[in-house]
Amino acid sequence: MRYIRIPRTDLRPSVVCLGGVIQREPSPLVGCYDEFVERGGNCFDTANVYGKADCGFNANERLLGRWLGQKPPSFRDGVILCTKGGHPEPGQPFDRPRLSRAEIESDLEESLRGLGVDTIDLYWLHRDDPERPVEEILTYLNEFAAQGKIRFFGASNWKTARLRQAEEYARARGIQGFVANQPQWSYARANQQALDKVRLVAMDKDAFRFHQETGKAVLPFSPNARGYFQKLAAGLPLTQLAAERYENPGNRTRAETLKAVAAERGCTVQQAALAFLLHQPFPVVPILGFSSIPQLIEGMGAVDVALDSATLGRMRGGTSTLF
Ligand SMILES: NC(=O)c1ccc[n+]([C@@H]2O[C@H](COP(=O)([O-])OP(=O)(O)OC[C@H]3O[C@@H](n4cnc5c(N)ncnc54)[C@H](OP(=O)(O)O)[C@@H]3O)[C@@H](O)[C@H]2O)c1
Repeated sequence: MRYIRIPRTDLRPSVVCLGGVIQREPSPLVGCYDEFVERGGNCFDTANVYGKADCGFNANERLLGRWLGQKPPSFRDGVILCTKGGHPEPGQPFDRPRLSRAEIESDLEESLRGLGVDTIDLYWLHRDDPERPVEEILTYLNEFAAQGKIRFFGASNWKTARLRQAEEYARARGIQGFVANQPQWSYARANQQALDKVRLVAMDKDAFRFHQETGKAVLPFSPNARGYFQKLAAGLPLTQLAAERYENPGNRTRAETLKAVAAERGCTVQQAALAFLLHQPFPVVPILGFSSIPQLIEGMGAVDVALDSATLGRMRGGTSTLF
């Protein structure tokens, strides 16, 4: 495993993070936590909302919390816990943001109880509320940090203009700003219209430039494009979600490039696609989703796939950034 420091923090996550995929018990995937750690993984992503629609409570945080609770106390120091708050209420429209101080505090307290810890290492805002000034948001996040409830914080599904505003405000006031960004990003280009429906934001040219300028870390979600390339390579039908979000002519071309790169490198198409994310000019820690432990193990193998600059150029299809 390789590790990378998130700039402006003392966090050194493994270059792949374990996604919050398990929401029910008993689950055949519970063993993934130990499998991930045994292979050197130390960074876990979850969210207060994961499991709420199905179970009515923060099922994924509680599952992770119970697993952590079985470990010796010193184990906590070696892992990086990331969770998110501020997601719209399950069943409510996505245009009703929940980013008031009271809503975030309530989510945060529930996350701390669910995970059974005193502090969250990296706390994400799950969505943005563009009507709410960044000043207000950064002020309460800094207060939660001062209280020790969170160590660092990041933004997920924020547009770049808002990330820039937050960055400028934090710098001007000398306070802590977002240390990382969690957009959707994979070797496939997402159909942004499909993401817009649920207020998800994908990496794009402007965001890429922002990260080049600031060196800020990216922890991309859905880095496997929901299995888009794997399904095409295996001749399997795409799931409805993968088709809606990722089916487009550009991605069909990328699928062919990926197959060629995977054959040359002796790896799988999934590993080649993840390796592409791991070869960027700023820190990138993909958050792996999976529906079986072998899928997780395969994804972790991407860490060992080296891509030279000629191959990367070919993968970018003649552009400097893929965008
Ligand atoms: N911040 C946010 O708004 C946000 C949004 C979404 C997700 N997330 C986070 O990001 C994590 C990952 O996201 P995700 O699950 O949407 O995306 P993902 O990793 O792109 O997709 C996971 C799916 O990819 C397929 N897959 C993965 N590894 C594979 C392999 N080796 N071979 C074949 N297929 C493979 C599987 O599809 P099949 O099940 O069809 O086999 C799996 O369910 C989540 O767990 C969560 O922690 C955050």
